[in-house]
Amino acid sequence: MIFLKTDEEVELLRESNKLLGMTYGELAKVIAPGVSTAQLDKIAEEFIRDNGGIPSCKGYEGYPATLCTSVNEQVVHGIPSGKQVLKEGDVISVDCCILLNGFHSDSAYTFPVGEVSEDVMQLLRTTKEALYLGIEQAVTGHRLGDISYAVQHHCEAAGYNVVREFVGHGIGREMHEDPEVPNYGRRGNGVVLKNGMVLAIEPMVMMGRRNIILENDGWTARTADRKPAAHYELSVCVRNGKADILSTFDYIKQVLGDRFI
Ligand code: MF3
Ligand code: CO
Repeated sequence: MIFLKTDEEVELLRESNKLLGMTYGELAKVIAPGVSTAQLDKIAEEFIRDNGGIPSCKGYEGYPATLCTSVNEQVVHGIPSGKQVLKEGDVISVDCCILLNGFHSDSAYTFPVGEVSEDVMQLLRTTKEALYLGIEQAVTGHRLGDISYAVQHHCEAAGYNVVREFVGHGIGREMHEDPEVPNYGRRGNGVVLKNGMVLAIEPMVMMGRRNIILENDGWTARTADRKPAAHYELSVCVRNGKADILSTFDYIKQVLGDRFI
């Protein structure tokens, strides 16, 4: 069942997403060669709790951390570790959910670590563009498949593959609500979008082949061919007929300046 949000609920979601955006700003300050993913997790958890939020991935179906940190060929749900140290040329996809005021926020961002090769930067840019093309479709009268198609078409036109095993989702009082928001689909298919729907739109895109493998830790999904992947996610409300983006990358942008992609 799809829960349509009231204006008051949307403002609570925006607050939760603001704290999430600020958390990403804190991470942007420290992501660099030599930093471990466990250090990033600690910084995020402390920042979220200091600001009254709850890191809602931690404990979700037994997930052990605040952040999912997926480096290079890791696609999603990489578990932060003191042994995983970032190095120049890596890319790290950070995914995080916060519970604040009874509402979950969800957003993801792939950061370059130092100088990254041009072909990988192109994967990042294309994935982010696909996110915004999907968001453009999140307007009343359109259907869910219009979002999915826009994401898939943009990524495949660039020669990449979208992940099919994981999907975006509705979000609100629960981290995962209906409907599912796949990154592949057909125009004109799926539910009609209505005011008050809140969707976490999250292209997960692979430079190489579309097969993915689940690591032995039971969480980390990586590309079978070990080519890199990227993941950008924003929570968006259909509101007054249009897409109202509730999450924000603005704090990342403030920190990275002209290194922001
Ligand atoms: N943020 C992820 C999502 O987009 C959820 C990961 S929470 C975990 O749905 F516990 F599964 F890691
Ligand atoms: Co999500």
